[in-house]
Amino acid sequence: MNWWPSAYLWTNDVNLKPALVYLAINAALVAPLTPAESRSTQDAVFNQTQAERGARLAAKHCVQCHDVGYFTGVFLQSWQNQPIQGLFDLIRATMPEDRPGALKERQYTDLLAYIFSLNDLPVGDKKLDYKNGNLKTVLIRLNQSKMQGGISPNLP
Ligand code: HEC
Repeated sequence: MNWWPSAYLWTNDVNLKPALVYLAINAALVAPLTPAESRSTQDAVFNQTQAERGARLAAKHCVQCHDVGYFTGVFLQSWQNQPIQGLFDLIRATMPEDRPGALKERQYTDLLAYIFSLNDLPVGDKKLDYKNGNLKTVLIRLNQSKMQGGISPNLP
């Protein structure tokens, strides 16, 4: 531990050392889950037009089984820090429940934009595109207010 200020090694400070160790351990635990360089849904990755298209699709294909509250509910918390692709694949493979995969990829992407907008995630200029690899690299990151208790208990 080269970075350890050498003064502490000489002072026998009983209070400060445990605190520094605690901080170091905490940083080590949290850092891999939130790599600073990853883009996320906090970086305005969809636009308003797209979210509105998604809203119309949801009204047509989803609301008979899910009210709007469902899409802002706890289900999304388990996706915290996961690539958008996982949620895209799940919805596409299973929804609408009576006709899984019935919509086009572009439409499932619009639905995701709608779900993100319902969760007050930032809206940008560009649409979310399922073809450019962004679904795999952009992580779902909800607003802190949505994440009661901080980090999701569902994370590995
Ligand atoms: C015929 C009824 C029905 C329709 C239509 C439907 N769903 Fe579902 N959906 C369900 C049921 C049932 C579940 C599983 C029960 C639950 O988890 O609440 C579910 C679960 C989900 C989940 C949670 C998946 C998970 O495991 O976290 C999402 C997201 C979802 N639906 C999105 C949609 C979207 C988007 C649409 C419109 C394209 C849609 N659903 C249309 C019945 C439906």
